[in-house]
Order: sequence, then C-alpha cells, then structure tokens
Amino acid sequence: MGEVLGWFSNDLAIDLGTATTLIYVSGKGIVLNEPSVVAVERKTEKIRAVGIEAKKMLGRTPANITAIRPMKEGVIADFEMAEKMLKYFIDKVHNRSTFVRPRIVIGVPSRITQVEQRAVRDSAELAGAREVYLIEEPVAAAIGAGLPITEPSGNMVVDVGGGTTDIAVMSLGGIVYSESVKVAGDRMDDAIMNYIKKKYNLLIGEHMAERVKMEIGSAYPFEEKKTMMIKGRDLISGIPRTIVADDAEIREALQEPIGTIVNAIKVALENTPPELAGDIIDRGIVLTGGGSMLKGMDTRFREETNLPIITVDDPLTSVVLGVGKILEQLDLLRKVSATSQWGRSR
Ligand SMILES: Nc1ncnc2c1ncn2[C@@H]1O[C@H](COP(=O)(O)OP(=O)(O)OP(=O)(O)O)[C@@H](O)[C@H]1O
Ligand SMILES: [Mg+2]
Repeated sequence: MGEVLGWFSNDLAIDLGTATTLIYVSGKGIVLNEPSVVAVERKTEKIRAVGIEAKKMLGRTPANITAIRPMKEGVIADFEMAEKMLKYFIDKVHNRSTFVRPRIVIGVPSRITQVEQRAVRDSAELAGAREVYLIEEPVAAAIGAGLPITEPSGNMVVDVGGGTTDIAVMSLGGIVYSESVKVAGDRMDDAIMNYIKKKYNLLIGEHMAERVKMEIGSAYPFEEKKTMMIKGRDLISGIPRTIVADDAEIREALQEPIGTIVNAIKVALENTPPELAGDIIDRGIVLTGGGSMLKGMDTRFREETNLPIITVDDPLTSVVLGVGKILEQLDLLRKVSATSQWGRSR
C-alpha cells in the first residue's frame, strides 16, 4: 500500500541554488542535497558526474572533462547543463520507478527577469514536470523559518546564498519590498582568491578559497587570532607553495563583499514603509542562507543596523523547507502567489 501511495505522492519542492540544489518530496522531507555542479566530457557532452562527485572535480579535471556550475548569481547561466542536472537529480529522487510526472514548486530569486523565469520553468518541464510553480526564495525562506508571513505585520528576511543575497520585507503573504544583490558566498571566495594573489603572489582555487572562508573567515573580529595554511601555486615561479594567513587578513579581504551586503540591507530598511519598519524593530531581521554562516555576520549586522538579528537553525535548508510547506498546502501557495507577481505556468 505504501508503495502504491509512493507512486502518487511524488510532487517535488526544489531549491535550485547557485551552490547547492535541495529536493524535498511531499510527505518525506528533504531527500537530496548536492552541489549544483555537472562534470561533462568536452567532446561528446556526455555527463560524467553530477553533484557531490562533480564538485570534487572542480578545478581538477583532466583536459577532456570539464566541471560546470550551471547556476550563476542565482539564475541559470548554462541552460542545457541546468536542465541535465535537474533531470539527473529528479531521476535520482524518483529512483526511476515512477510513472506519474511530478508537480514541481521551485524557489527563485525575488528579482529574476521574465526570461530567467522562463528558463527555470522550461528546464523543469524538460526534466519531466507536469506542472511548475515558482515561488520567491525569500518568501519560501520566511515560511521555512516559521515566520507568520500571512499576517499583516512586517517581517524582514536576508538570505545570503552562494550567488545572491536576497533581502525582502513581507506582509500579508506578499513582498512589500525586495532587493537582490549578486554578492554572496561566491563573491567572498573570489575576494579571498584575489587578496591572496595580490598580497602573496599565490594562485589558489575556488575550493581552497571556500575552505579559508569557512575556517578563518569572519565579518567581525574574533577574541583570539586564527591562522590557516593556504596552499596554491606561486605566480612567479609556477611552483606549489604554502603560506600562513590569519583571520584579520581574511576579514580585510572580505570587507568589500560584506560592505555591499550591509549597504543593501540599509537601503531595504530605508525603503520599508514606516508601519512595517516599526514591526521590524520589534521582530528583528531573520538571517538565513549558507553565506550567513560566515562567522560574526550576525554581530556585524546587529552593530550596523541596531536591530535584533535572528539566526535560523539550519540556514542551508530554510528555502527548501519553505517550498516544501508550500507544496503540501496548496492554499498557502494561493495566498502567497496571489500577491506575488507569478502564479503557475501557462
Ligand atoms: N560555515 C560557513 N561559513 C561561511 N560560508 C559558508 C559556510 N557554509 C556554507 N557557506 C557558503 O554558503 C554558500 C551556499 O549557501 P546556500 O546553499 O544558501 O546557497 P544557494 O542557495 O545555493 O545559492 P543562491 O541562493 O545564491 O542561489 C556557499 O558560498 C558556501 O561557501
Ligand atoms: Mg539559496
């Protein structure tokens, strides 16, 4: 019996993120959580690996294979690869045993263009969806974090992801103001790579830069100094070399991307209607997204805004959990999509 039901309850909620793709199956919860990376053979375009396996290959592929991140800055940059990746993930979740084409709800950045929306819809349809619904990521993140967004009081969510930082003020299930900047985790990695290159003449890869960010990166000073060995290739001699960097240096490297995010939050606050601004003073700003796990981010934002900053339990899953809740309560989708600019496809 359970098996039979399984065939039908195959609707999916997807967070197609720049860094990570998560899939939630109705009635089951999160069933997939993998990097948004595809490794393909250059000549034949044959897929060699997707997700975790493909991420391990980033920057390390032999000449005949290339590892691609089809999502950039929150949206589809390589349509064909995005579609193949999505199809692979959907097949993986479905175990190739499903006959019914799923209904799919996908979280998308709040400010994406019509063309970008079309690209997301098309790739989900080509990947086998029967119906596609789009929902703004900050709305999903707010629902996932358990905020009462269908009530008439204001809530502000800041989702610092891999490609974009989405900021939204919501009330009555709709977005009153939103801002999306293409500065988040990836740009922090770039900033670290550039800093190390300039200061030490050392080239480091994306992977290494991300590790540095996670281990000793911060947006606010620590009480104790932290150091880390960083490996790369010397720009001048061409030979592999190791340097030791400390947290103050990495903080300096991250100053620009963090500053951009802080500014975007300030602009959003300035554009918030006064009544709702009053609500935000009481309720604070909810901070989510993997990029918000940078150490000291909450302290920094608190200091810059003088507002309470609320962190969520698991910043990496709040969007997909919110999309999942929407999937399971279609009336909620109607409530939030009636006020939002998009309904369902076609
Ligand atoms: N502990 C950590 N410290 C700092 N950054 C982290 C940490 N853990 C994850 N990240 C960063 O979080 C980012 C990924 O976050 P998330 O999964 O929310 O992004 P995404 O949803 O895929 O991207 P987007 O929403 O922009 O499309 C990556 O840049 C990653 O390096
Ligand atoms: Mg995201």
